Amino acid sequence: AFFCGFGPSVLAVAVALFGVRYWFINPSHSFSLPDQPQSFGVLAFLLVSSVIVAVGERSRRNLAALQESQEALEERLRERTAELDIANQGLGDLTARLLQLQDEERRRIARELHDSAGQSLAALAMNLSSLGADIERLAKSAATVSDSVALVNDMTRDIRTISYLLHPPLLDEAGLASALRWYIKGFTERSGIKVHLELADDFERLPQDLETAIFRLVQECLTNIHRHSESPIAAIGIARSDGEVRVEVEDQGKGISPDKKLELLSAGTPGVGIRGLRERLRQLGGTLEIASNGHGRGTVVAARLPVRNSRTNVAVAAGGRSAH
Ligand SMILES: Nc1ncnc2c1ncn2[C@@H]1O[C@H](COP(=O)(O)OP(=O)(O)OP(=O)(O)O)[C@@H](O)[C@H]1O
Ligand SMILES: [Mg+2]
Repeated sequence: AFFCGFGPSVLAVAVALFGVRYWFINPSHSFSLPDQPQSFGVLAFLLVSSVIVAVGERSRRNLAALQESQEALEERLRERTAELDIANQGLGDLTARLLQLQDEERRRIARELHDSAGQSLAALAMNLSSLGADIERLAKSAATVSDSVALVNDMTRDIRTISYLLHPPLLDEAGLASALRWYIKGFTERSGIKVHLELADDFERLPQDLETAIFRLVQECLTNIHRHSESPIAAIGIARSDGEVRVEVEDQGKGISPDKKLELLSAGTPGVGIRGLRERLRQLGGTLEIASNGHGRGTVVAARLPVRNSRTNVAVAAGGRSAH
């Protein structure tokens, strides 16, 4: 039954029963009805054969069902495999296409980058470098400007000093004493020469031309001391008495030799300082004397000036010094 199926098995059982009965058992009474013991034997044989046939048939059917399902599975597997192959093929095509598209996209982006962004960056780099040069130039310009500001400040200070020295505002506003103190302070700072000024605290104001003349006289004498005498100190005495003002400027420098003094009196001397003083004093009715022997004992420049609206007992003598 397992190998051939139910029908052949039944046939085989019948043939076996028939064969046993007619070929293996004594043939006598072969065609007679079997007696009781034989009937049991036949029945037992049939029963066992039926069980074997049933078992075989069942196994065969199971096997057949299994084979069928296996074949169905294999068929499905083949179908799936075919589908997978198709899908794989499609995937491969898709991948290839994707790669191709990716390449094309990359090529396009590279071209775009080179043509647009690359050009813009090159232009930007040029702009930046020219900007850098501008900034460098600006830094140099800033340094030049700050130098120029310093120069302007220096010039302003110098012009202010020159202007004040040419005609100190204090001279008109506060009078000779204040102007002289201011000038002497600056002169000492500039030259290092110590200057002693003897001037009464209550020295009254003089007419403007007299104050200016005296201020110019002191200014010129101190400048000469600085330039020619090599003296470390100077003394100025200004006193007013008997309708005149006496001014003496003294130093302890190398002095002026007699020859030089003679030269000063002549008209052709190059310096204009002392000549100008003389002329100014002359115009105001005053005099100028220079006392110096030129042997290192210094020089004294003495001037006298008449005061028009003279007041007595106001001036203070310059320490009893007199011209040599
Ligand atoms: N205090 C002094 N000590 C020594 N020599 C002096 C003194 N004052 C003037 N001198 C001499 O007298 C000369 C004439 O002086 P002056 O002031 O007239 O001319 P300067 O100072 O040379 O030139 P500037 O015209 O600029 O004043 C000077 O060149 C100098 O030799
Ligand atoms: Mg001079």
